[in-house]
Amino acid sequence: MTDRYAVIGHPIAHSKSPLIHAQFARETGQDLAYDAVDVEPEMLPFALRQLHDEGYRGLNVTLPHKTEVAQLCVGVSERAQQAGAVNTLLRVDGGWQGDNTDGDGFWRDLTRLGIGVAGRRVLIVGAGGAVRGILGPLLAARPALLVVSNRNPWKPEALAEQFKEVGSVVPRTHLALKGDRYDLIVNATSAGLSGAMPRLPGQLLADGGACYDLSYGAAFAPFRDWATAQKAAIVADGLGMLVEQAASAFEIWRGVRPPTAGVLQALRAA
Ligand SMILES: NC(=O)c1ccc[n+]([C@@H]2O[C@H](COP(=O)([O-])OP(=O)(O)OC[C@H]3O[C@@H](n4cnc5c(N)ncnc54)[C@H](OP(=O)(O)O)[C@@H]3O)[C@@H](O)[C@H]2O)c1
Repeated sequence: MTDRYAVIGHPIAHSKSPLIHAQFARETGQDLAYDAVDVEPEMLPFALRQLHDEGYRGLNVTLPHKTEVAQLCVGVSERAQQAGAVNTLLRVDGGWQGDNTDGDGFWRDLTRLGIGVAGRRVLIVGAGGAVRGILGPLLAARPALLVVSNRNPWKPEALAEQFKEVGSVVPRTHLALKGDRYDLIVNATSAGLSGAMPRLPGQLLADGGACYDLSYGAAFAPFRDWATAQKAAIVADGLGMLVEQAASAFEIWRGVRPPTAGVLQALRAA
């Protein structure tokens, strides 16, 4: 029987996961089916039990369930606990094992792009859920400085406190960045979704510096334009991260890492 997988979220029609995993399956010669299942928030516990009963082998989890689903897992990986969110479920006896592949996907995409972090000054703009996922890999790479700045000043403070055993996170407001220079600036805000760009002081990017946006598609435009005006040597969107985090989920389920270049090319062409 064909192994079944799915992405759950609400809404779900926009998800690129079915297309991504279908291509991974083709490229690795794996026989699997992948569905998109719309699950309303109040139905999450029921849906998880039902999909388990129906024999699904693994699930991707997207908004708005990434936080709540952790409470419904029989176990949660250390990196998912650190991120405070689960985006991948693996079927185990009696329920689902939760993991989070966002940080791994981000890190692999930086590596693919040749963006170095060790010994560099790194600024993350934004302090929401996605930042909790990427801080672990960034700190593990030993940057010279890791600053998180945000509109709401309490969120970077809370992140610095949460990650103090892992490494040093310097909390800032955007205004307090004035006069700083960074080798890598990561936009982790959702401002681009409304066509906006966080208000940042000028000249934050060092010569030869790189800019990376977790957003992609139309939401990437404001940060792309800002980064281009800063004369960034590399300006990248988060589509590569999306594909790499999906590849990490596929690897957890199937034990084989799929090639990602073809999927990324197909998504860009779509
Ligand atoms: N490529 C991928 O695979 C991937 C994976 C995960 C997330 N993402 C993207 O990453 C982005 C952030 O996701 P998230 O889950 O962290 O969201 P979130 O938890 O809702 O956090 C949103 C962040 O954006 C800031 N923000 C929103 N509007 C702003 C504005 N107009 N000006 C300045 N700051 C603003 C918020 O600041 P306040 O705290 O001050 O409100 C907060 O720091 C989203 O665009 C998401 O699509 C991409």
